[in-house]
Amino acid sequence: MSRLIQARSSLSRFWTGSSRNVRFLSTESNKTDEPFKVEEAETVNMPPPPTEKLLVLGGNGFVGSHVCKEALDRGLTVASLSRTGRSSIQDSWANNVIWHQGNLFSTDSWKDALKGVTSVISCVGGFGSNSHMYKINGTANINAIRAASEEGVKRFVYISAADFGIANYVLQGYYDGKGAAETELLTRYPYGGIILRPGFIYGTRRVGSMKLPLGVIGSPLEMILQRAKPLSQIPLVGPLFTPPVNVTAVAKVAVRAATDPVFPPGVIDVHGILRYSQQRSV
Ligand SMILES: NC(=O)c1ccc[n+]([C@@H]2O[C@H](COP(=O)([O-])OP(=O)(O)OC[C@H]3O[C@@H](n4cnc5c(N)ncnc54)[C@H](OP(=O)(O)O)[C@@H]3O)[C@@H](O)[C@H]2O)c1
Repeated sequence: MSRLIQARSSLSRFWTGSSRNVRFLSTESNKTDEPFKVEEAETVNMPPPPTEKLLVLGGNGFVGSHVCKEALDRGLTVASLSRTGRSSIQDSWANNVIWHQGNLFSTDSWKDALKGVTSVISCVGGFGSNSHMYKINGTANINAIRAASEEGVKRFVYISAADFGIANYVLQGYYDGKGAAETELLTRYPYGGIILRPGFIYGTRRVGSMKLPLGVIGSPLEMILQRAKPLSQIPLVGPLFTPPVNVTAVAKVAVRAATDPVFPPGVIDVHGILRYSQQRSV
């Protein structure tokens, strides 16, 4: 090490190298009239810059497609997994996503998609009968969390949902499934597991070839309700005042949570999502 420091300070202009292999030239000599002579050369192998590969589960869905785009904008390698693969997305950014086809209920159909992946964001979930909702929000994601942790994936972000108080009884399978997946994530990923709990997410949602501008309702409601946080603490009906959140804000926070090693693990509620999304570094 001391030799390295000497070499660098004595003639830093002879320091040549790249970010991967850096070559230091030591030019120590007490004979000033001698022509320049290299006495020693060392090669220091630096590790390559870290490469982040993100796998988005449900990357062709409403939230998932915004997550893919955000991650590409941040220079990540992005892959998506869903039953239909790329599906109907025509935007040019979609050409830069690696589209895998597979079903989370059959781990063998998609385990290869986890190769080389450093973080996963799951945007898989849905509605239907209580048993279906439990399976798609719970079992499917539990399968994904287990497979990712066995493959050595470092960070896992799960898009869960805000508690809507009385609505939880109507959508019992949905919330029970979300809860089961959250428990599995916190158990398997105590340091790299992040749960986002948005309420209504607005933005432009594709339905076939149509685009639905959900922001027409969501955006003004977000402005009003994010300033009415105390209302959301009223027992039973309070959660109905949960502010909606823009899909791009959810995507930004999800990608940051998946890639920033100091992003705190655990649950981030709607107000947390809004706060993180407004931070400059996001
Ligand atoms: N939208 C909201 O307002 C809102 C609010 C709060 C929370 N969330 C949560 O956010 C997440 C994303 O919601 P979203 O609105 O983006 O849903 P979405 O558009 O319906 O997307 C769901 C995605 O899951 C994929 N998928 C479904 N079953 C699968 C399976 N068995 N294996 C692999 N992939 C499967 C779908 O693709 P394929 O059909 O091709 O498989 C699709 O890409 C969900 O967990 C939802 O509960 C949404």
